[in-house]
Amino acid sequence: MIKTLKAFDLEGKNILIRVDFNVPMDNEKVTNNFRIKAAIPTILTCLDAGASVILMSHLGRPNGVKDEKLSLIPVGEELASLMEIPIKFSEDPISTDAIDTSLSLKPGEVHLLENLRFNDGEKLNDQFFASQLARHGQLFINDAFGTAHRNHASNVGVVKSFKHFGIGWLMDKELNFLQRFMINPKPPLTLILGGAKIDTKLGLIDQFLSKADYILVGGGMAFTFLKAKGKEVGASLVDEEMLSIAKSIMNKARIQNVRLILPEDVICGGSIDDQKPKGPFDINSVPKNLMGLDIGPKTLARYNGILGESKTVVWNGPMGVFEKKGYEVGTREMGIHLVSCIANGTKVIVGGGRYSFCT
Ligand code: 3PG
Repeated sequence: MIKTLKAFDLEGKNILIRVDFNVPMDNEKVTNNFRIKAAIPTILTCLDAGASVILMSHLGRPNGVKDEKLSLIPVGEELASLMEIPIKFSEDPISTDAIDTSLSLKPGEVHLLENLRFNDGEKLNDQFFASQLARHGQLFINDAFGTAHRNHASNVGVVKSFKHFGIGWLMDKELNFLQRFMINPKPPLTLILGGAKIDTKLGLIDQFLSKADYILVGGGMAFTFLKAKGKEVGASLVDEEMLSIAKSIMNKARIQNVRLILPEDVICGGSIDDQKPKGPFDINSVPKNLMGLDIGPKTLARYNGILGESKTVVWNGPMGVFEKKGYEVGTREMGIHLVSCIANGTKVIVGGGRYSFCT
């Protein structure tokens, strides 16, 4: 049974909280503070109960190397301004100084640790790194819903060093919501599956193969499925190692009577930096030198038609390289269409990337 904050006597304790402050940044400025705001209820509950709080998070994917552009300093400033309190900051999360700062916090004080991914130990779930992180607090609370699927030191390894641990309000809210909708989703249930890589979504796909009516595939991973079906996909992204898994997913879908649908046309470019989108091309005639970077209009119309009839929709991953102008149309138009579906009573859960929300 997972414990929430209610289960603990927080007074006088140092509470180590894993938050997900992986927020969009531009020029070392936070451009969307949604995730920072979402962590505040948990922090406030601890402070109001007379505890002190130590926050830890990753930001981006610096691969174990310090990168000023991915420092959490601007995030700390944003949090300080939202909460109207000073926030202490430590550059090295496992230095003696950082641990001493945490141990000498007074009730009501907050200490933020620098980006955990500046240290290799985070992604490797290194036990020494995890045990040093654990020295910051007497109770561990995981409120990093967006990172919960990662087997990293700050959310998995760290738990071993704590006698008392639980989840924060954000995690609690998201889990309750998912449970409510996924135990008995109103059919038809559609999963929109996008993004580049299949391997990070195998668990999700597995869950939906026994529940969904439709799985609509877009994004880079669509080309691995298409290649597995024997299509020529030009220079599109194909994860060769996942071809047999893609085949077996399509087989399972057939057996379970799930309609797994792949793009029938695509917008292409010479590379993801090609500023002149080309196409749409029918999926059977993608030019050899071009890569698919967005779904085409026929695919969008078909997918939106299915979404219009769905009563529950779970969306994970973009339909194309939406960060690049010219390849964002499929993702954007699908999003706009889903807003009208919500107005008609469809339940929509959007997750992955740096946002997650539910209706
Ligand atoms: C996210 O934004 O999806 C989470 O913070 C996890 O980030 P990651 O994909 O870099 O592990």
